Amino acid sequence: MKRLRQGDPSVSIPLMAVVALGNPAKRPGNGERDSLEKKVFLRRELGAHRKMIPTREECLRLMGQYGMLENIIHHSLEVAKVALFLSVELNKKGQRIDLGLVEAASLLHDLTKTECLKTKEDHAQTGFQLLMGMGYEKVGEVVAQHIWLGKAGDPSSVSEEEIVNYADKRVMHDRIVSLAERFSDLKERYGKHQRAMDYLERLQEEIYGIENKIFFILQIDPNDLLHL
Ligand SMILES: [Fe+2]
Repeated sequence: MKRLRQGDPSVSIPLMAVVALGNPAKRPGNGERDSLEKKVFLRRELGAHRKMIPTREECLRLMGQYGMLENIIHHSLEVAKVALFLSVELNKKGQRIDLGLVEAASLLHDLTKTECLKTKEDHAQTGFQLLMGMGYEKVGEVVAQHIWLGKAGDPSSVSEEEIVNYADKRVMHDRIVSLAERFSDLKERYGKHQRAMDYLERLQEEIYGIENKIFFILQIDPNDLLHL
């Protein structure tokens, strides 16, 4: 059993409660007890909230557990690298991007893709449902929008959804490429019919809008990502 230490921030409030309640001389009065219980409750709530985003280690474990193909794992690791680089740089410019959310959603965006290659289901949707079921709602919402964004973003700020969506478009297999190269490949592979081609054209228009927004804020060239 883990020994509790007074200095351990993860247990400091519950430990204070245990120590105070176990010693009659230090036992708090009603008001203090209410306040103490409130602090314990809030800390538990904050802990639960943080748990809604899996750590990198938990993501890697899930990726193995759900039998992702090795090439899709390599692709996801590269997407996470691009997405985190952009997020860190954007935060330096005053954006408020949740790095843990971006990393988890990037690593898990194709979690169900291997299965969907067989079932022909939409892996953005099945990934969303799977993650929601695990309690990772925020991550699921980002994963749901990694192919097609659900709504137009704020023109002055960049969202986690936009970052992961954009980073995914900049990684072809496990290689960072330009949007032009990525879409040329997508059109060659999937643009066999006019309807599919129209869809890819709309997707391309949307993603160039996001690229312009991100790199206008960063004041660097999109091609700089090729050297990451
Ligand atoms: Fe992807």
